Amino acid sequence: DVGTSSVKSLLMDAGGRMIGTEQQGYEIVKERLDYAEQDMELLWEAAKSTICALVRRFPTEAGRIQGISYSGQMHGLVMVDRQERLIRRGIIWADQRSADEIQKVYDRVGKDRYRNVVLNSLSTGFLLASLMWVWENEPECYEQIYKVMLPKDYIRWRMCGEYGTDRSDASGSAIFDTGNRQWAWELIDELGLDREIFPVCCESGSIAGAVTKQCAEETGLKAGTAIAYGGGDALMQAVGNGAAAPGILTANIGTSSQLNAYIDRPLYDSKFRTNTFCHVPPESWLLMGANLSGGIALKWLMNQILEMKNYDAMTRLAETVSAGSEGLLFLPYLSGERTPYNDPAAKGIYFGMTLKHTRAHLIRSTMEGIVFGLRTSLDIFKEQGLVCYKTIASGGGARSSLFLQMQADILDCEIFTNKDQERACMGAAITAAAACGEYADYQEACEKTVRLKDKTVLPNRENQKYYEEAFALYQELYPHNRELFC
Ligand code: XUL
Repeated sequence: DVGTSSVKSLLMDAGGRMIGTEQQGYEIVKERLDYAEQDMELLWEAAKSTICALVRRFPTEAGRIQGISYSGQMHGLVMVDRQERLIRRGIIWADQRSADEIQKVYDRVGKDRYRNVVLNSLSTGFLLASLMWVWENEPECYEQIYKVMLPKDYIRWRMCGEYGTDRSDASGSAIFDTGNRQWAWELIDELGLDREIFPVCCESGSIAGAVTKQCAEETGLKAGTAIAYGGGDALMQAVGNGAAAPGILTANIGTSSQLNAYIDRPLYDSKFRTNTFCHVPPESWLLMGANLSGGIALKWLMNQILEMKNYDAMTRLAETVSAGSEGLLFLPYLSGERTPYNDPAAKGIYFGMTLKHTRAHLIRSTMEGIVFGLRTSLDIFKEQGLVCYKTIASGGGARSSLFLQMQADILDCEIFTNKDQERACMGAAITAAAACGEYADYQEACEKTVRLKDKTVLPNRENQKYYEEAFALYQELYPHNRELFC
């Protein structure tokens, strides 16, 4: 899983048991406040060292690997030239520089027409918006482009030597005909982009190639091992949680956070407040509410404001305060927001602060603000008529009982969790297994590999009263301040 903060490699057996994982962290490069970039070479070095470490730790199992696949941070723009060199650092999903380019795209092809093909609004940080920015601002880079790809596609290319992408990540580029699961060729032509720069696009579980001799020498993997395309992390997280059938909702709090629902047709919000992407199983889609500041808001609070040591200490403090943080509310728009406003200029707010509030209130209200973001998406899903019978919490949000209780209370449902962590990696491993014919389909793969805990978390009616009042106020914060953000 080529994430935003780290890369994780995981070895899974055919029964869905995790044999081991290795992780290596890296930073986002921010030369300006609105920029977010990463050097893909550095990410490849990190990926390589996690694979080497896994192979060293589990030589017997590693020698029997049948297939490899990927989960990756979505939307980012990676560009290579004809000599197969990276042209510049990747511009990743968290980047906010391209608001003007979005307007230009809408002006050129028509906002309604664009959104009715792509089934999404164009957001800053999405491949198309970043590509238009490069064209406008760095023409010398633009002219060198041979292929564009998403971050995990670069890592896969280093391993199998074939360019390409999968439909889930390609739909997150926002120059994709999401309903018909192919590049939006007409829009590509009308925007004056060269069709040739877009690589071949296949289903996530299709075989993209095999481990090359060079990659085998660099990593210890066996040359010739099958490599499947893989997919975007939000989708892989959903697969790893068993969301390969209708009715399952996954609430993931990672660096960003998302609420995801499996859908068997390309359903989309008519106001485009949520995202619709191609899902990993063929002929399925994912409805997503995306909040750009999830766990990163807590990390920011821990490192930059409170100078605390770890999340456990923060959670212990937050537990000393009651639901609703005694009137302190947090609007978590620290890097703009996608769902529901799609506004890169939106900012974070602590609202309702008084002399009685302490560090504990700040932490608790930050956690509550993150979960209110998920609730916003849930309400939009319900407006679309979506019925869900199971909600599974995942990522950092599944690690503490306080976060789980908040999700049960604020989303008003029973919350399930998995016995093991690392669901995005597991989704990628399940995809590799499905690609190699280990399972008949993703539904069978998920049934055989995803194991939920028996213990679930139920809503607390007392807490819900406070949260309902707080959520009503939370929803007023952005509309009342929109004009003041710049
Ligand atoms: C999903 C999204 C994030 C990134 C980074 O739309 O923007 O999940 O994929 O993890």
